[in-house]
Amino acid sequence: MERIRVRGGRRLNGTIQISGAKNAALPLMAASLLTPEALVLSNVPKLADIATLAALLAQHGADIDLSQGDGAGGQTMTLRAATITSTTAPYDLVRKMRASVLVLGPLLARCHQARVSLPGGCAIGTRPVDLHLKALEQLGARIELEEGYVNASAPGGLKGGHVRFPTVSVGATENVMMAATLAAGETVLENVAREPEIGDLAACLIAMGARISGAGTERIVIQGVAELGGAHHRVMADRIETGTYMAAAAITGGALTLTHTNADTLGAVVDALAACGVGVARQNGTLTVSPRSDAISPTDISTQPYPGFPTDMQAQFMALLTTADGASTINETIFENRFMHVPELMRMGANISLQGHTAVVRGVKQLRGAPVMATDLRASVSLVLAGLAAEGETTVSRVYHLDRGYEHLVEKLAACGADIERVAD
Ligand code: UD1
Repeated sequence: MERIRVRGGRRLNGTIQISGAKNAALPLMAASLLTPEALVLSNVPKLADIATLAALLAQHGADIDLSQGDGAGGQTMTLRAATITSTTAPYDLVRKMRASVLVLGPLLARCHQARVSLPGGCAIGTRPVDLHLKALEQLGARIELEEGYVNASAPGGLKGGHVRFPTVSVGATENVMMAATLAAGETVLENVAREPEIGDLAACLIAMGARISGAGTERIVIQGVAELGGAHHRVMADRIETGTYMAAAAITGGALTLTHTNADTLGAVVDALAACGVGVARQNGTLTVSPRSDAISPTDISTQPYPGFPTDMQAQFMALLTTADGASTINETIFENRFMHVPELMRMGANISLQGHTAVVRGVKQLRGAPVMATDLRASVSLVLAGLAAEGETTVSRVYHLDRGYEHLVEKLAACGADIERVAD
């Protein structure tokens, strides 16, 4: 198994092209199950999670072709599910990635039945799928849990319904929105997630012939249609990858220009950087982080559903704040167990104390390199960021977590002056 070795202390300087968003690409790929026609997705990032979902979709009968991108980067993926050959999503494939549960809504809508293993995924809390299941029941599905599988059926097809989600859930919003596109009549979804990835999925579904309004607000209305067709859609830029590189620039005191991204999706992250004393300029699809002359200022952060500060940026900001000139608090409100990076950052000399859902981070003068272990995707990258600022050598093991969500991480950072490489164990 490989590790990443970082020798810290170099200011990053240069330009990084941002990839297509993993968290947009996954639901878009699942949407291909809704139609027998071809769905062509461009700007698809090359990531382990994408390959995992492709394998699952192939198992359901989708033909998947990959070709080189359209010049602006990424791969172009053509998915054609002419016939669904299996409505079962088996444990062996689903356990690798929680987002696999996104096949449930499309399969149920198109085939009126689905059998999907309960997912595993990131170790950041219990992460149930009850919201997905209850909402699909509101659309007329019969759901039973049996031997670790969700057995869902809707003889005669799904019917439009009214769902008010008790908690905001990105995945449940996506699953149910996809299911409702082929349900009979009108579906109203309230208290839905407003993440930009929901808007990206809705835009693609609309291009496929779905009738959806309100995506991006807390109320989405869907008029069911009899069938959907093919479409061509470009996956939105990865806002979390963008935010991660902004934090990398900030922690090293460097200057980075991030291209092919969208500043409009990053308001809370840019505001948090400003509170730390880091300036970010925006121009069209490009963001530029300026070099700073002063130490990072401490700040207080609370993760919230979009448009609030994203939980997927919490670990990276914690790394940044370990180097601040004073004490910060970080309150994690989305996931119950998302502080696994804390003991690893402490091995690098960080001063952090945990009180329930809140971390108090007291800035230290200098982090020190250490061998550390990656535990989940965003936690792993926070250790890489800390390594960029630390004195000496840091090795991050269990690199496969990073391969799930960061395309060419080592190459992108090395091209901007980081002393970073992959090494064999
Ligand atoms: C998505 C993102 C993930 C991000 C998260 C929150 C993808 C592939 N993943 O995950 O990177 O961290 O949004 O922004 O897009 N919940 C329930 N019951 C459910 C579903 C969720 O209780 O049926 C809870 C979860 O445990 C969590 C909260 O709701 O506490 C939000 O989770 P959710 O928005 O569903 O996250 P995901 O869609 O899994």
